[in-house]
Amino acid sequence: MDIKFSQQGIEDVASDALVVGVAYQQKEQRSPVFSKAARAVDDALGGLLQELFASGEFKGEAGELTTVHTMGKLATRRVVLVGLGKQEKLQPLAIQRACGAAARHVQQTGAHSIALDCLLENAPLDLETQTQAAIEGALLGVYTFKKYQQADAHGNGRGINKMRVLAGAAHHARLEPAMQRAIAFAGATNFTRDLVNEPPNVLTPTELANRAGLVAKRFDLDFEVLDRPQMQELGMGGLLGVSQGSQEPAKFIIMRYHGASTRGEKDMTLVGKGITFDTGGISIKPAENMYKMKGDMAGAAAVIGAMYAIAVLKPAINVTVLVPTTENMPSGTAYRPGDILRIMNGKTIEIVNTDAEGRLVLADALSYAVLKEQATTIIDVATLTGGIVVALGSVMSGMFCNDNALSAEIIEAGQKVGEKFWRMPLDDEYAEAITSDVADIKQTGGRPASSVTAAKILEHFVGDAHWAHLDIAGTDFSDSKKPYSEKGATGFAARTLAELALKRAESV
Ligand code: BES
Ligand code: MN
Ligand code: ZN
Repeated sequence: MDIKFSQQGIEDVASDALVVGVAYQQKEQRSPVFSKAARAVDDALGGLLQELFASGEFKGEAGELTTVHTMGKLATRRVVLVGLGKQEKLQPLAIQRACGAAARHVQQTGAHSIALDCLLENAPLDLETQTQAAIEGALLGVYTFKKYQQADAHGNGRGINKMRVLAGAAHHARLEPAMQRAIAFAGATNFTRDLVNEPPNVLTPTELANRAGLVAKRFDLDFEVLDRPQMQELGMGGLLGVSQGSQEPAKFIIMRYHGASTRGEKDMTLVGKGITFDTGGISIKPAENMYKMKGDMAGAAAVIGAMYAIAVLKPAINVTVLVPTTENMPSGTAYRPGDILRIMNGKTIEIVNTDAEGRLVLADALSYAVLKEQATTIIDVATLTGGIVVALGSVMSGMFCNDNALSAEIIEAGQKVGEKFWRMPLDDEYAEAITSDVADIKQTGGRPASSVTAAKILEHFVGDAHWAHLDIAGTDFSDSKKPYSEKGATGFAARTLAELALKRAESV
């Protein structure tokens, strides 16, 4: 993508479409909030934008989109008005979605170039945040996954390849870092989406390790993959147990980014669940929706994606990524209900349902973080439970956290990038459900509060670390297409984690 700021006057911006964000104000009367450029467009078109607003055809509500053809009055062929909602409540997510919907829409009409003008001067968000959100949203909006479809039938190869961002020349230097963040964040999210959208016959644990290796190579990160013998040596009974029914070898991926010369309080270890296909194992899932379980490595994809953005933007902290990855298959060699597995930290787990595999592989990875990496802050990301989908749907991810400050940091980082997290409980009374007669812990606590009992199991493996567990089942994948994104992987959590790394580096 050729992407730059432009200081051209509105008359001279020669793009296939100029996207103009419009918010509204509600005093005695509802009135539109235009950017400077939008006012110039309005002038050039003889007051057309004012008129659309006055007539109620365009209200400035979030999600609205109206196309106006310029008929030679401006260099751009079309102006796409997108609603940003109420000015006082302007949030990055609304800007992202508006610009995403506009960019996606014009791409679908066959356009190749787009200009963005979405900066409002009296909004509660600074221009940096607005700029980042606008560019990020547009880059996320034009994402498609068509590599397995024939070009002609599906519009492959078409697409927007040129983007101009309108901002007064005086602002360019100041806004450049915001543009770079947007490019890195959107690139990381789209990379995450690609990993999740790949079919499970292609994206095996070995291939996931290869793709992580490519990122590491490109950005000169330390990279290591542990194989079975090393897992046995370390006593990773959870990961080995889950993988024993599969023909595909399990992998334990380690990526290290060194942004600070010494270890510090703010360093983070990110752990991602990497089940490249979850059949449920011997406790097999029903056939109907099983194909969606190719996405059961979305946590792994998110932490590798976060690492991608971190490697591009180079914050001054250290970040380690750990990914236990395997398939969960039924077979004559598969682990069974009734088995007892010993996790790397020595604790034993009584298996009652082989479909609760995520917590087992995470238990080993969390133990590794504590015992081998001496991690002080650990965040794991996992499509862990159907229960969180029942509780929060596809709007928010569940967050479980043993530290109020870390919880607040994650919620704030999420808000900055347009990802929502809702804090869930870790009350000790929930642990009753996971007591076992024969092992240290029982693998599941049954249906009640199943997301919470799953988190309570993970808690056994984090030692004294500050820890958050993000359950992204529900937010990782969109079952319907949206104006601002296609059906499929969302790339959820990659940006929040990258933003968190940037914020923590600043605060050292
Ligand atoms: N990967 C699933 C959770 C999941 C469900 C993700 C729906 C995305 C959408 C996980 O491995 C699983 O099967 N969890 C079970 C655990 C149960 C057997 C205790 C669940 O939550 O139903
Ligand atoms: Mn499962
Ligand atoms: Zn799973």
